[in-house]
Amino acid sequence: MKIAVYPGSFDPITNGHLDVIERAAKLFEKVIVAVIHNPEKNPYFNFKERIAMIKAAVPHCKNVEIDSFDGLLVDYVRTKKARSIVRGLRAVSDFDYEFQMALTNRKMASEIETVFLMTDYKYSYLSSSFVKQIARRGGDISGLVPPAVAKRLMKAKGAK
Ligand code: PNS
Repeated sequence: MKIAVYPGSFDPITNGHLDVIERAAKLFEKVIVAVIHNPEKNPYFNFKERIAMIKAAVPHCKNVEIDSFDGLLVDYVRTKKARSIVRGLRAVSDFDYEFQMALTNRKMASEIETVFLMTDYKYSYLSSSFVKQIARRGGDISGLVPPAVAKRLMKAKGAK
């Protein structure tokens, strides 16, 4: 079975991430969206919340699973018997970081290939950080994130 792992912080999932998941689901037999437990950056949402928001966004993708991981990504990919890592590319600015990460992962696990998928142009400017900034300041985030995320972000804002 052709299995791909789509790893990330997903803090929170945006419509850009969702677009990549849908594209990957058409290319692979199974796609595992793998939420990093403890990203380097302090997450706004804990991993359980991040997973719940992804779950709510992908019921239409039958070959997509959601999981979490810790430690090295390549070790996790091996445990899942996957051979591909999917990453989304928005603009040229993503390239340096993605290039470094893909080659570092290849150095550690040459049998695993990183596959880059371009998001739809309408999401090419979108990032989780900007979505959080807009939500915190009361801006409109509809159309940028799945409905469950918009609801959760508005709730978090209301609690402050
Ligand atoms: O959504 P992000 O924050 O860009 O995702 C980054 C992520 C989680 C894919 C990356 O930080 C990662 O793979 N972390 C696990 C640790 C690891 O394997 N590091 C070595 C490769 S850079």
